[in-house]
Amino acid sequence: MHTSITLPCGLSLPNRVALAPLTNLQSQPDGSLGEDELRWLERRASGGFGLISTCAAFVSKQGHAWPGQLGIAEPKHLAGLTRLAQALAPHGPAIVQLHHGGVQAKLAPDPISTGGPEGARAATVQDLEQVVEDYVAAAQMAEQAGFAGVEIHGANGYLFTQFLAPEDNPRTDAYGGALEGRAKLLRDTLQAVRAAVSPGFAVGVRLSPVDTWAKRGLVLADTERLVKWLAQDGADFVHLSLRNAGGTPPFEDTDVPVVQSIRAALPDSVPLISAGGIWTHDDARAVLDKGADLVALGRVAIGNPDWPRQGENQEIVRTPFTPEHLRSVSVGESFVTYLKKFPGMVVGGAPVRTH
Ligand SMILES: Cc1cc2nc3c(=O)[nH]c(=O)nc-3n(C[C@H](O)[C@H](O)[C@H](O)COP(=O)(O)O)c2cc1C
Repeated sequence: MHTSITLPCGLSLPNRVALAPLTNLQSQPDGSLGEDELRWLERRASGGFGLISTCAAFVSKQGHAWPGQLGIAEPKHLAGLTRLAQALAPHGPAIVQLHHGGVQAKLAPDPISTGGPEGARAATVQDLEQVVEDYVAAAQMAEQAGFAGVEIHGANGYLFTQFLAPEDNPRTDAYGGALEGRAKLLRDTLQAVRAAVSPGFAVGVRLSPVDTWAKRGLVLADTERLVKWLAQDGADFVHLSLRNAGGTPPFEDTDVPVVQSIRAALPDSVPLISAGGIWTHDDARAVLDKGADLVALGRVAIGNPDWPRQGENQEIVRTPFTPEHLRSVSVGESFVTYLKKFPGMVVGGAPVRTH
């Protein structure tokens, strides 16, 4: 856990513990950096994470998915991003997660299949070429701002996931059909971003490698093929978004942990990150033992910003977090309010689900 690792682009990460991308709604209505967003990330960076990631940041006005979301879409965003990169860099490498909301931002492979909101429409080829351009421009802005890399957000149900999932993507053009077609948008984006940034700038991809919630999405065999392509396309890492970072696929008949299967499929030169349900150092070690090269921490890092530096036996603050505790670890009011919506996350917030 405390050894360094070097990505294919040459970027060295000082240890195997990454901060997962966490939406915190602490930026300004137009996507410019908010002070609380800066404080939140700087506090975690000073806690010793080997890789810090921003929240999902929107790459275009069209892909802007929720209020308070950080933007990396317009020239006016550069100043705040530069300030953020400068604040984080002394602590270690930091990347921006690049996001397009897809149907949540009213653009979908097919709005009916994705159950899109009113006004959602099917993306034209021109729209998709624009998406690739927007990702390229955003990645270039991240580099200009001084970040060490970007992560293309291909997980958790947003635009790329919608294209990858057969149930959401009934298209019959080059962007649909077999996995080759459904993966085209993500691969075009990765290839274009890789070609547009410096060779030493990291470009990773986050995926939902198996369906965790609704029996939709990629099956393991698809992801095993996809990650090989992403390695060819120049990915510096693949990051798995799972409910249980070391678990087996919920809807598939196998005893092999997802992380182990994907590690076996992905060329050795490309590091694999796994996230989901890690709370203790033992949890993290177990996931690393199953094949992950790094672990990413979400909820535990919200309440425990010094987790990577903490001793093995130091107490870990668990959910539900008190609002006072959250404030004491640089979680601002908008984020506290947002976290209250997650069942069991905050004392006085939404209760734990019992079914
Ligand atoms: C409040 C909150 C915000 C999140 N925001 C993002 C995000 O912006 N991008 C993303 O890829 N995943 C996001 N996730 C998912 C986390 O990155 C992580 O995969 C998930 O929380 C599971 O890890 P954990 O069990 O350690 O929390 C979010 C999760 C939470 C709880």
